[in-house]
Amino acid sequence: MTSLRKCTLALLILGLLGAAAGTVPGHAQERDTTRPPPIVPGLEVPLQPQQSDVPYVPTSKPVVNRMLELANVDSTDVVYDLGSGDGRIVIEAARKYGARGVGIEIDPDLVQKARKKARRAGVSDLVEFRQGDLFEADISEATVVTVYLLPSVNKKLRPKLFRQLDPGTPVVSHDFDMGEWTPKKTVEMDGDTVYLWTIPREVPEQLEEAGQ
Ligand SMILES: C[S@@+](CC[C@H](N)C(=O)[O-])C[C@H]1O[C@@H](n2cnc3c(N)ncnc32)[C@H](O)[C@@H]1O
Repeated sequence: MTSLRKCTLALLILGLLGAAAGTVPGHAQERDTTRPPPIVPGLEVPLQPQQSDVPYVPTSKPVVNRMLELANVDSTDVVYDLGSGDGRIVIEAARKYGARGVGIEIDPDLVQKARKKARRAGVSDLVEFRQGDLFEADISEATVVTVYLLPSVNKKLRPKLFRQLDPGTPVVSHDFDMGEWTPKKTVEMDGDTVYLWTIPREVPEQLEEAGQ
């Protein structure tokens, strides 16, 4: 990520922090449970809105390409992008390599946008966008996982990756590492960093817990 884009992501995070009146964006445990959820008139059960753990900042095209190359994506793959934004990573994997793809995205507007982009790219038969929380998604069919989240979110995600993915599955992250899990490869690209790991056959004990 260029320093301008890093700055944008940082500003977005600060904005979220301010908007949340002192709460830290993070997963369930860190969310603000002191604010009551909105009540829909006529419904007795209040709707609990799903909350984003990371603001939307798209990955640039050259970085998308590098991420897919690092994971060695081909037509036999099923690429899962966790927090898929406008769908660009799975759409590109389908368009360029003929891979199947699934994007998990919490923001319904971005899900709609991604579906529209997939139609325009002619890959709707290969890709699917699911609206929901990435921490609750079943990702076990993925043969490649991509993420562009935040360090704390990556560390919380780690145990799920080990639990649900087969040994040898590549995991690629834009800009943020996975704490104590040492990457197999790190590529610097003009201000952006891309990390590659593969799911180990034996998970070291210290990596089984979510990192802090
Ligand atoms: C930094 S953007 C990356 C978008 C896309 N992967 C890319 O690289 O262009 C992070 C995305 O994760 C989504 N997101 C944040 N928390 C999420 C959650 N708990 N479950 C699913 N999506 C989430 C945000 O709405 C946002 O679109």
